[in-house]
Amino acid sequence: MRNPQLNKHGELTHLISTEGLSRDILQHILDTAQTFVPLAERDVKKVPLLRGKSVFNLFFENSTRTRTTFEIAATRLSADVFNLNINVSSAAKGETLLDTIANLSAMQADIFVVRHESSGAPYLIARHVSPDVHVINAGDGRHAHPTQALLDMYTIRHFKKSFSNLTVAIVGDVLHSRVARSNIHALTTLGVAEVRVIAPLTLLPSGLAEMGVKTYTDMAQGLKDVDVIIMLRLQNERMRGALLPSSHEYFKHFGLTQEKLAYAKPDALVMHPGPMNRGVEIESAVADGPQSVILNQVTFGIAVRMAVMSIVAGASS
Ligand code: CP
Repeated sequence: MRNPQLNKHGELTHLISTEGLSRDILQHILDTAQTFVPLAERDVKKVPLLRGKSVFNLFFENSTRTRTTFEIAATRLSADVFNLNINVSSAAKGETLLDTIANLSAMQADIFVVRHESSGAPYLIARHVSPDVHVINAGDGRHAHPTQALLDMYTIRHFKKSFSNLTVAIVGDVLHSRVARSNIHALTTLGVAEVRVIAPLTLLPSGLAEMGVKTYTDMAQGLKDVDVIIMLRLQNERMRGALLPSSHEYFKHFGLTQEKLAYAKPDALVMHPGPMNRGVEIESAVADGPQSVILNQVTFGIAVRMAVMSIVAGASS
């Protein structure tokens, strides 16, 4: 069966997940993003690639980084950008997601950027829009956050130059994390030497071994000699029942401190998708320290989202 993100020519027409995307497609997105990075240094930070196109940002869940960088990215591509305010939209009156999409499509939308609390919502939309309309997943439930994974890959490649010799540890609430899932697919496809996950047993999902991931429940063992550490937020809003004794206890065992960071290689990168809970999964001395590339991730997110939008918009219908 054809990957639903690809059109009949094998081109990326929607971005729903990093799962199933080839190394060539991932590299093409990263290479395209690299061409957009220097734009930030120019007086006029715009290129005309999406002139005349309409990008609709539909964020049914809160966001600071993703929503804003998608808006900046679309603006830099010269698109017209419309941010639907979900709280005052007719979704609050009971309009279905697909009716909302049908009405916005009637306003000649070209690209929908969708964040939704339900896993699968962007895919559902992608199945119902016409072939010349493109859907980009900005995070759906626990399922996927592909542009976060791509900007993480961009950041790793920028600082480490190549993926092949790297050991990458993903630490924290993997059970509820769409970022972890998307990163694991991207890292394995791009050929890193080893992907590790470090978490308490209650926050480890099943199926990680089948994804080629080694699991650890101890930071000293899991962080030993790693090149990259991706910290995850404790997603209390998605937890049902008591999965942890307390955030204090969690920080003691799994919070990234300078002491625990010393288990990794001396030049290990510290990453976090944000938003961070300081003092819960990471201490400020590390989050703001010399090995942290957390704000670089945010900046690279603009170029990566420009790349994704320009690539899907260029796919033949
Ligand atoms: N990383 C991320 O998705 O952040 P936001 O929720 O602020 O978009």
